Amino acid sequence: MDVPVNFKRRNLLKVIVLGDSGVGKTSLMNRYVYNKFSQQYKATIGADFVTKELQLDDKLVTLQIWDTAGQERFQSLGSAFYRGADCCVLVYDVNVHKTFESLHNWRDEFLKQANPDDSETFPFIVLGNKVDVDGGSSRVVSKKKAMEWCASKGNIPYFETSAKEDYNIDEAFFCVAKIALANE
Ligand code: GTP
Ligand code: MG
Repeated sequence: MDVPVNFKRRNLLKVIVLGDSGVGKTSLMNRYVYNKFSQQYKATIGADFVTKELQLDDKLVTLQIWDTAGQERFQSLGSAFYRGADCCVLVYDVNVHKTFESLHNWRDEFLKQANPDDSETFPFIVLGNKVDVDGGSSRVVSKKKAMEWCASKGNIPYFETSAKEDYNIDEAFFCVAKIALANE
């Protein structure tokens, strides 16, 4: 029996989004998948996923994007959750320095839990979100500083985004799909 071309080429990529509470993880996903944005903050409890299909060269890939809770009291994820991830998205808020400092903890925690074959080459991506706030005048982490950190961790790709203004999000997730697929 013939298998439809699309089916044969379908790739499911598991992506995990991590970062401090309030940096905009849920907002980025809602913008990317539903093209919606809400000003209202509603803490994520536990973890949930959304899916999005996209075309990458001749391949149809499905991103399974897992949103997680930044608030410690809502985190309940065991290592089984992290295992089999194809890419990890680390998010911080360019206006809140603490959220940038947390990146290395989130990265370490991911590597500890997911325990990938090669920690050095596992695909991470960093998103500096909320670049729209006050037209950029309240940002406290410069692009240069963020890019230096990414470079020091094995050239992690870096994107500046705004879920509110729908800035650079398709580009960022396109990169997610690309590096996740390359690592499969
Ligand atoms: P937890 O679920 O607690 O981990 O938080 P989160 O990272 O999912 O943050 P969430 O997406 O809920 O966003 C927190 C708040 O920031 C909400 O009030 C959003 O409206 C706001 N927000 C998110 N992204 C942006 C952005 O790009 N620009 C601005 N101005 N506000 C944003
Ligand atoms: Mg959330």
